[in-house]
Amino acid sequence: MVIMILAITMMVFALVAVLLAYEVLGNPKGPDNKKQVLWLHRLFGYLFALLFALLFFGMLSRYTHANTFGVAAWLHATSALAAAALLAVKILIAHRYKKFAGNLFFLGTLLLVVAFVTVALVGGKVPGMNDDDRPAAVKKITAAPAPPTGDWPENLPPIERTFVQKCGACHPIGPVVQSLSRYKTEADWLPVVARMQAKTTIISDADAREIAAYLGQIAGQ
Ligand code: HEC
Repeated sequence: MVIMILAITMMVFALVAVLLAYEVLGNPKGPDNKKQVLWLHRLFGYLFALLFALLFFGMLSRYTHANTFGVAAWLHATSALAAAALLAVKILIAHRYKKFAGNLFFLGTLLLVVAFVTVALVGGKVPGMNDDDRPAAVKKITAAPAPPTGDWPENLPPIERTFVQKCGACHPIGPVVQSLSRYKTEADWLPVVARMQAKTTIISDADAREIAAYLGQIAGQ
């Protein structure tokens, strides 16, 4: 959100800077106070450069996630590099290679367009972080976690799974297993299970019978 606000402010600065340059260079009538307008152009140009540098260097760390970049993220990053190069060239020409000054107007316009494309390509998403941006391989990993390697509870036999899921819903299974020393037969377990069943709707009559039989059986082992 903060990044988006910075980016939009940056684009407003760029637009103002370019429009002011157009007024001086392109308008045949031209403003009377050319000097001040050019000065303002420079001010907005540097405000743009400042925000651009802030965002650019702030984003560089995201290259650590480059392996998760999708197409949009790569285009965004490439376009940002192009904008940085254009900005550097423009500043160099304006201050040192002044014989090329005639190109400044074109470079400025190109920079505005490239910066706009850079911002638009992202539209508030974090490159590499957004699910849509992820390569299919990464998406698959996030979408379908590897099945648990242990034998609990998916890989248990059905009756054990029923026992663990239903009887483990309210309290740990451990104490239940420990009371196998107290309730030794299916007949011992039936009333206990019936009492548990009365506390909830998740245990059907069939579950209750099966669990009582199962617990009676393992108690006898
Ligand atoms: C709705 C929650 C709930 C579910 C589901 C549940 N229990 Fe309980 N269980 C309790 C509560 C509460 C207690 C303690 C109060 C009591 O004993 O009634 C308890 C206590 C126990 C005890 C110790 C008390 C005694 O009588 O020895 C055993 C053994 C037990 N449960 C076994 C089971 C078994 C087996 C299942 C699965 C069929 C099961 N529970 C499912 C809530 C539940």
